[in-house]
Amino acid sequence: MEVKEAAIYIARKAGELLRENLGRVESIEYKGAVDLVTDVDRKSETLIVDFIKERFADHDILTEEGQDKTEGSPCRWIIDPLDGTTNYAHGYPVFCVSIGFEEEGELRLGVVYDPMLEELFVAENGGGAYLNGRRIRVSATPTLDKSLLSTGFPYDLRTSRENNLNHFSNFAMRAQAIRRAGSAALDMCYVGCGRFDGFWELKLKPWDVAAGSLVVKEAGGRLTDFNDSPFSIYGYEVIASNGLIHQEMVEVVNLKTVVTPQG
Ligand code: IPD
Ligand code: CA
Ligand code: CA
Repeated sequence: MEVKEAAIYIARKAGELLRENLGRVESIEYKGAVDLVTDVDRKSETLIVDFIKERFADHDILTEEGQDKTEGSPCRWIIDPLDGTTNYAHGYPVFCVSIGFEEEGELRLGVVYDPMLEELFVAENGGGAYLNGRRIRVSATPTLDKSLLSTGFPYDLRTSRENNLNHFSNFAMRAQAIRRAGSAALDMCYVGCGRFDGFWELKLKPWDVAAGSLVVKEAGGRLTDFNDSPFSIYGYEVIASNGLIHQEMVEVVNLKTVVTPQG
C-alpha cells in the first residue's frame, strides 16, 4: 500500500471510530486546566499508529497522545487522532482526524477527514489540494473588512499573557466576522476551500497544522508566522490566508495595543 492510499484509508477508519463513539466518551482526563484527552482520542491514535507501524515499520511517527516512534527515519507521520477534543467531549460535532507525512523534512502529504460531514481533504506537495476528489482553491476576498476569519486559543490562556485575546479583539474590529470552531486542522482546510478567508493562531503543535498547512499551500494560499517570515509546522505562530488579505493580517497581529471602539 502506498503512503497516500494508507493515509486516506486509516483517516477514514479513525473518523468512523470517532463518529460511532460521539456521545459515548467513557473517560476524560485533564492534561491541563482546560486541556482534555478522552479514551476515544487514545483509541483513535492506537488504531492509526498500529496500522502505520505494521505497514511502514521503519518510518517515524509523531502523535499528540505520545505513541511516538522516532528513530531518525527521513519519513515521518505527524498525527492528530482527534483534532477538536473539547468539541468532541461535549458532543459538538466539529472535529476531524489529521495526518501529515513528511520526507527529508518536507511535507509531502496532508489528509484531513471530517466524519460528520464526510469531507476528505487531501493535499500533495506540488499536486494540488482536493475536497472529496474535487480541486479546491482559496477565496478571492480582496480585503480584511470583507473577510471571515477563524482562530483558536491556547490551552494556557488563563496563565499566559500570550493568549490571543488581544489579537482576537483587534481582528474583531477589522474583519467581517470571526469564528472559533475548535479544530485548527479543519480551520486550515476551510481556508483552503474558501469558506474562511484567513486563520491565525499561536502555540499550535505540528500535529495540529501539518496536514492543514499543506492543504492551504496547495490551494494557492499563503502561510507565514506573525513576522511574515516562512511558516514552519514546528514554529510558534501561523497566519494562513488567501494571500490577498495576508499583509493586513500581519499588520493586525503586530498592533501594540488593543483597539477600542470609536465613538
Ligand atoms: C486543539 C484544536 C483547537 C486549537 C487548540 C488545539 P485538540 O487541538 O485544534 O482548535 O485552538 O489550540 O490544541 O487538543 O483538540 O487536538
Ligand atoms: Ca489538535
Ligand atoms: Ca488532538
